[in-house]
Amino acid sequence: MSIEFKNSKFHLFNNEMSYVIEVSPYNDLLHLYYGAKITPDALSVPCRCNNPFIPNHDENNPSYTLGSLPCEYPTAGGADFRSPAIEAELPNGLRAIRLKYTGHEILPGKPALPGLPAVYTESDAEASTLKIITEDEHAGIQVILYYTIFEDINAICRHTEIKNKNNLYAYIRNAQSVSIDFPAGEYDYIHLSGAWARERHVERNAVHKGIQGFESRRGASGHTENPFIALLEKGAGEDCGNVYGFSLVYSGNHRFVIESEAFETPRVQAGINPFSFCYKLEEGESLVTPEAVMVYSASGLGEMSRTYHRLYRTRLCRGKYRDLPRPILVNNWEGTYFNFTREKLLSIADSAAKIGVELFVLDDGWFGERDDDTTSLGDWFVNEKKLGGTIASLAEEMNKRGLKFGLWFEPEMISERSRLYEKHPEWAIQIPGQKPHYSRHQFILDYTRADVREYIVKTISDVLSKANIEYVKWDMNRNMSDVYSPQLAPDKQGEFYHRYILGLYEVLERITSAFPDVLFESCSGGGGRFDPGMLYYMPQCWTSDDTDAVERLYIQYGTSLVYPASSMGAHVSAVPNHQVGRITPLSMRAAVAMNGAFGYELDLSKLPEEELAEMAEQIKLYKKIRGIVSSGNMYRLLDPFTSRYASWMYVSEDKKTALVYYAVARSKPVQPLLRIRLKGLDPDLEYSIDGKLYTGSTLMNYGIVINRDEHAYDNLLLEIHSV
Ligand code: GLA
Repeated sequence: MSIEFKNSKFHLFNNEMSYVIEVSPYNDLLHLYYGAKITPDALSVPCRCNNPFIPNHDENNPSYTLGSLPCEYPTAGGADFRSPAIEAELPNGLRAIRLKYTGHEILPGKPALPGLPAVYTESDAEASTLKIITEDEHAGIQVILYYTIFEDINAICRHTEIKNKNNLYAYIRNAQSVSIDFPAGEYDYIHLSGAWARERHVERNAVHKGIQGFESRRGASGHTENPFIALLEKGAGEDCGNVYGFSLVYSGNHRFVIESEAFETPRVQAGINPFSFCYKLEEGESLVTPEAVMVYSASGLGEMSRTYHRLYRTRLCRGKYRDLPRPILVNNWEGTYFNFTREKLLSIADSAAKIGVELFVLDDGWFGERDDDTTSLGDWFVNEKKLGGTIASLAEEMNKRGLKFGLWFEPEMISERSRLYEKHPEWAIQIPGQKPHYSRHQFILDYTRADVREYIVKTISDVLSKANIEYVKWDMNRNMSDVYSPQLAPDKQGEFYHRYILGLYEVLERITSAFPDVLFESCSGGGGRFDPGMLYYMPQCWTSDDTDAVERLYIQYGTSLVYPASSMGAHVSAVPNHQVGRITPLSMRAAVAMNGAFGYELDLSKLPEEELAEMAEQIKLYKKIRGIVSSGNMYRLLDPFTSRYASWMYVSEDKKTALVYYAVARSKPVQPLLRIRLKGLDPDLEYSIDGKLYTGSTLMNYGIVINRDEHAYDNLLLEIHSV
């Protein structure tokens, strides 16, 4: 068991790290330490307050004040003026609570979170869980803090369960999943910000005084801020220094806060965004917060990412495809948009089959009367006229050609022009008496309603069970506005955003478990909901609607901070690129896309034989390398945000095989030849490159030389094997 309770201290540890919480003489939980492994026996939180303006509640011990001490789960309304982790409002209007330690339990393994996605274990030996019970007896609020530490992975998962034990009710206005006060010092932070078609760009800044916050108020995790931040000790980089990652397993409104105050001891919090949040707990009811996954790395960002990759790939993603190579697909969206016929689809399929593609995905436009984006969302009935027959017969045609068949859905939406809207206009999220805002001509279905969820599970299941559909793309193409649900009581409207996500998770659980052989890929205008919550149900996500190879270098590099290559849908599309107009060579488009779940998204039937032949070679190569791309350890080598290149590599677990990727993102004339130092190899093994032998040590210290001029879009995918 890697959790001990000794001398009023909880020590959570594995071979490499420690996390220590102290129960103070006043029964407050104080944060003592988080970092590389220590022996905390002789430690206790130093307690000295030299600021007379911070209140204390023991006159005989003015140095003990929660306003300056590192707190484990700070509350509002007491001596601590920094950001609270929990805010409640009681029936008498009181907004202050004081949580005191009342007991704890240490459990083997990791309990599941009811109704919420979470990291899991496959045996109890993989992890241990600490439950610390705290309570404000006067207010009747109990807060249980959960911590799971893994034996072999430097990760701690945290969430809280808030119970109303008073005989009336309580409003929870803020409930963070994690709060940590770091020691005073100089820090940087990284967040992944962006926009539609420009997701997850890496931004690094120094932590400054005041509050720095990163959040979504869009009803989804969003394109703008991914639910992740990293705190880095000053000087920490890709391969050195202490780095602390915080990732939230949640697909809705999230908020990450770093607050550096008078003492410059940054408080980091992550959880549901308190914006518009107010959750009513009746007597005996509980609220469970989403899981925050904290990763500690003593050797930089790279190690942090590899830990997230391993954990998310093997203990967050689930299902048949978790460990299977992902099929190479062709998707018709950028090839045809809405404008297709059965003949067109089959002619693309013919070319696809010829070059070795494994899966045909029919995107938007196959249902209702949907020939453009103004209509039919919600009408999940096959448009047999447009398809020239049933979906089952189309799937059969694909299967005859040796291709699996997959289908696009957007099940959380409703078009104003649809049969569903005619019948159930009240199912669209809207403010009473007001027309909802349009976005891509569509409204959002009210997933807080059980009848809506039933309808969706039933209609989607009907389509899936009537044909041999082996892949589903689950899309969501707008952000949430006009938030209100007539089904919720007035004092429960503040639960809407969270209840929507709980409703979505329920639907996803039901559909994915009813169709365990289907490969599900999530999507939200590309990567607008690329988050760990969705990965629990669907092991891959369409990374971005931007398929330009150069833009993808930045997007995929940024995404790799947290998410494994196996989760990133990446396709070769036509040139000039539809999003940015750039013309890049086919070789580059393919090489970039091979760093993910690979596919094509263009009209293959129109391509000349030479291009198809080139693609056939690409597919042969991808079939060889997809194992190492999806399960190798990834090392980032050159950062496109700070250099003109992007480069990274994957190394197999036994270090005998590696795949190096390099691309020129922006070229410059008259440059010295680039030498890239590799990483993660065995220094003593000999590796063969182009018939010559090099030791791992040589490749990691001298490097490989890119012996050619630095031309735009130059690319390399280099396989290395030990001899
Ligand atoms: C979104 C997706 C695209 C495509 C279209 C279809 O934008 O990100 O890949 O499926 O919807 O309407």
